[in-house]
Amino acid sequence: MDRYLVFGHPVRHSKSPFIHTLFARQTQQELEYGLAEPSVDEFAQALRTFFDQGGKGCNVTVPFKEQAFTLVDRLSPRAKRAGAVNTIKLTDDGVLLGDNTDGAGLVADLKSHGVTLADNRILLLGAGGAARGALAPLLAELPSELVIANRTHTKAQQLAAEFHDLGPVTAQTYEQLAGPFDLVINSTSASLQGELPPLAPALIHTDIAIYDMMYGASDTAFISWAKQHGARQTMDGLGMLVEQAAEAFTVWRGIRPGTKQVLRELKRNLGVI
Ligand code: ATR
Repeated sequence: MDRYLVFGHPVRHSKSPFIHTLFARQTQQELEYGLAEPSVDEFAQALRTFFDQGGKGCNVTVPFKEQAFTLVDRLSPRAKRAGAVNTIKLTDDGVLLGDNTDGAGLVADLKSHGVTLADNRILLLGAGGAARGALAPLLAELPSELVIANRTHTKAQQLAAEFHDLGPVTAQTYEQLAGPFDLVINSTSASLQGELPPLAPALIHTDIAIYDMMYGASDTAFISWAKQHGARQTMDGLGMLVEQAAEAFTVWRGIRPGTKQVLRELKRNLGVI
């Protein structure tokens, strides 16, 4: 049977095996999908061994995405732009192709929630790997403006300069930000520590859409905060997780699984509904 897995550390709680097993059942594909948790030093060898032993493809998650970028034979244009690889496919001619489906997953999830990106003002919080992966797919949707704000302003400035050729992207400090924005995307890891990016509450209004790439069994700190200040449309990153997986599955198998039912089952599995 064709073998796939996700590399991460820690990865024991990953939902990827659950998601891909449901995709395989739904599309009647014969495959198995597991987990691997090598140390940072062991990752390169573990990746090589997996493919030497007949593995067909893998996902790569924290903290290996940047390392995977350097280990593959060839990069897709979107992986090159993202500077990170979350999906690897062994092609028929034996080449390890590195791809990145995170940004496509974000945009697909935003659209599935009915969020308009074209001609709208988007505020992206954070300038780490998650922000970098999101920028090109967001700019491809032709927003009127995309502003990056980050605690360390120089990192936001670097990102804006790097992606300037793709659209109207600028960097502003949290203090400089002037609304109204139509959509705020939180790509920071602040919610992991229950912390908040230092955003002025005045930027939140009833028609704004709020997206947190993090997720949990209950609202993230950022989503709770946005709701308290009047946001009516809030979304967490669970849908992005399922959509990036669907995109990876499509890269591997050439068949696109449906995501709605799988997302519902995942929520049930997590006790969210
Ligand atoms: P990832 O790959 O998930 O993006 P990362 O590259 O470590 O992770 O980036 C984390 C991002 O969250 C950074 O933009 C970080 O801001 P700094 O560049 O200033 O470090 C941001 N971040 C983390 N904790 C934060 C907090 N409490 N408030 C604001 N931003 C935070």
